[in-house]
Amino acid sequence: MSPSQPRIMVTGANGQLGRLVVERLIQRVPASQVIASVRSVDTARDLADLGVEVRAADYDDPASLEAAFAGVDRLLLISSNAMGRRVSQHGHVIDAAKRAGVSLIAYTSVLHADTSSLGLAAEHLATEKLLQASGVPFALLRNGWYTENYTGSAHVAVEHGVILGSAKDGRIAAAARADYADAAVAVLTSDDVLGGKIYELAGDTSFTLAKLADEIAKQSQQPVAYKDLPEDEFKAALIGMGLPEELAGLLADSSAKAARGALFDDGHALSALIGRPTTTLSHTVAAALATKAS
Ligand SMILES: NC(=O)c1ccc[n+]([C@@H]2O[C@H](COP(=O)([O-])OP(=O)(O)OC[C@H]3O[C@@H](n4cnc5c(N)ncnc54)[C@H](OP(=O)(O)O)[C@@H]3O)[C@@H](O)[C@H]2O)c1
Repeated sequence: MSPSQPRIMVTGANGQLGRLVVERLIQRVPASQVIASVRSVDTARDLADLGVEVRAADYDDPASLEAAFAGVDRLLLISSNAMGRRVSQHGHVIDAAKRAGVSLIAYTSVLHADTSSLGLAAEHLATEKLLQASGVPFALLRNGWYTENYTGSAHVAVEHGVILGSAKDGRIAAAARADYADAAVAVLTSDDVLGGKIYELAGDTSFTLAKLADEIAKQSQQPVAYKDLPEDEFKAALIGMGLPEELAGLLADSSAKAARGALFDDGHALSALIGRPTTTLSHTVAAALATKAS
């Protein structure tokens, strides 16, 4: 394949963001240029049905990664969801990509990774440092919060009439997963020299959790209020909902830090990159409530 038709691989392609990236990539380049990397090929048959090649690889298995990356020009490393193990996993991916001669790694980091106070930023910053040290050209997609982090439980909020958090009146510049997917596609398909580029990606507009509650209440026509809790009480509530302790701690930390602006950005780099406004809160709430109803 000539460099004018780079082969583009998406890791984590079976995940929520990865699927959106693959679906959008094949609207921009021939499906034959796209490779989906998944842990289980059996659970990704619908991706193969789109015409993309599907390869098996596991971030914990360096040999599987090196084999999967053969012939790949541009790689989107979608960060793992295995909190606490991600630096080692991402390191395996970066090493394997280097050995395979990948010419660009785009990595889904976190907003303002280098200055962020979020506990979960540490693994992203460590991964960014591995990328810098690798010598492989890279682009950092520093993704802000997904609006779906909240709207995914919109129906629960309606059922209980409450949204819990520790964000006080902190403003959250979230965007939809599809917006971040479009940003990844823009970078992966760009003709520009991308090595070393850093994109601070966030929604065009921001909201407080009280505004989120108001929007869900308005659209569902049910009473929903935001209840702010001390961070330790919010963490305990998340554990009570079934979340593992480490994840609950990181989410409570993120909410508490949001009160001090850790999830805010007004640079508009995301809409500039994707060439359209980011998805509104009202649209994402409507989509979530419609999913519940269907
Ligand atoms: N910006 C935000 O608000 C936000 C929120 C949540 C998460 N994130 C981060 O963004 C990433 C993508 O988000 P998402 O919503 O698409 O998450 P997701 O649906 O949980 O997808 C995570 C993907 O990581 C893959 N993965 C996990 N461990 C792996 C391993 N050992 N080897 C290979 N692949 C592995 C999973 O593979 P399988 O399909 O095989 O399980 C899955 O495809 C998350 O993993 C997390 O790092 C960001």
